[in-house]
Amino acid sequence: MKTDIQNRDDIIILVNTFYYEVQKNDKIGTIFTDVAKVDWSLHLPKMYDFWESILFGKAVYKGNPMLTHFKLKEKATMQEQEFSEWKNTFFTTVDELFEGGNAEIIKQKAQSIADLMHFKLNPPESRINIV
Ligand code: HEM
Repeated sequence: MKTDIQNRDDIIILVNTFYYEVQKNDKIGTIFTDVAKVDWSLHLPKMYDFWESILFGKAVYKGNPMLTHFKLKEKATMQEQEFSEWKNTFFTTVDELFEGGNAEIIKQKAQSIADLMHFKLNPPESRINIV
């Protein structure tokens, strides 16, 4: 039987599985492996901190994800399709491993952060015209 996401150890399992799947994804995998050439030994612990901060309110993550992704957008396509793949992979990974209140919350948080990030990286024309 599946259990809920209860602590940092569960987050570690989630994050490791998610990025294993992300690397294999034919739409966004190469953004990590070829474009950003991610150093996993640095990126994974950063993501444990990030999700622990989001889900359990522990302020262990120090960083600026928006800045990171703005820089990334100069080198890679970061639009509807890419965000959709990211979200689907995240949701599927959570559902395959866990079940419960925190599993639902982490998916909702991921959805809203992803949608906000997508919006900020790709502002609609109307927003540009106002400025
Ligand atoms: C199309 C979707 C996305 C792609 C392709 C993507 C790609 C990446 C890559 C390649 C990095 C590593 C950059 C580096 O180490 O040089 C990164 C970092 C990161 N990503 Fe994403 N990302 C996506 C969406 C998201 C979303 C939706 C979230 C949050 C829910 C997120 C959270 C983060 C965080 C926290 C970091 C670490 C930032 C830092 O402190 O350096 N990413 N992302």
